[in-house]
Amino acid sequence: MLVTSKELLLKAQAGGYAVGAFNVENMEMIQAVLEAAEELQSPVIMQTTPSTVKYAGLDYYLAIAKAAAERVSVPVVMHLDHGNSFDLAMQALRTGYTSIMIDGSHETFEDNIALSKAVTDACHPSNVPVEAELGKVGGKEDDLDGGDDNPYTNPLEAKEFVERTGIDSLAVGIGTAHGVYKGEPKLQFDILSQIKNIVDIPLVLHGTSGVPDESVKECIKRGICKVNYATDLRIAFTKGVNEVFAENVNTIDPKKYSAVGRKEVKKYVMDKMKVCGSVGKA
Ligand code: 13P
Repeated sequence: MLVTSKELLLKAQAGGYAVGAFNVENMEMIQAVLEAAEELQSPVIMQTTPSTVKYAGLDYYLAIAKAAAERVSVPVVMHLDHGNSFDLAMQALRTGYTSIMIDGSHETFEDNIALSKAVTDACHPSNVPVEAELGKVGGKEDDLDGGDDNPYTNPLEAKEFVERTGIDSLAVGIGTAHGVYKGEPKLQFDILSQIKNIVDIPLVLHGTSGVPDESVKECIKRGICKVNYATDLRIAFTKGVNEVFAENVNTIDPKKYSAVGRKEVKKYVMDKMKVCGSVGKA
């Protein structure tokens, strides 16, 4: 069944674990994520970015997610990841997405507050929770470039941001980046703890592909309740597809190679659900 992320994340916060949020881009990735969730009896969040939405449409992804969610017993969330405008957030709300992120982290502090509050005010009457971001996740997510300026979330600003916007969860900048890391990321665990001490809503970790599992677990201990994985799912899917073509370059049936991509994504997602500690929490 499709549910909102509100209760899921509050439960994770109370239980000291996190819910994995996996970026999906086609039917097979959606199937893979939900098969993994069902097998491990884990709650799960699936999410699509603006460029994925542009590829097929919010309604397409939501319809596939709904069909897949009906086949499982675990709670499933369909979330807009890095919503880049008020309009897109409203489209996702109207389409039936059950959780929405508005990313105003590239705006000034005041503009980020105004945008995040406007989206929150519009979503809450329908009981749809909102995630916003303060600080920056490095690297390139979708068409947005994190840039090289100070990426870290200021804890005092985070407190004010949460109070003035009314958001339900907060994505923080503590040194992670989207995409493939060149070296090992250096995470600022202290900043995360400082934020957690004065902000009481669930915190979100972005840019988790390539972050060592032990670091992710440390982040969860320090207040992260939602962990986003995207790049590694792409890598897993493509690895599976490539294996089929390496064996027979003349393969023409998309079901043949997509099924192997799906299997690789499922393996990866099961592994990360264990890291998040969400197994058996459905
Ligand atoms: P990665 O691509 O680094 O896993 O980041 C995922 C993410 O944060 C999506 O919002």
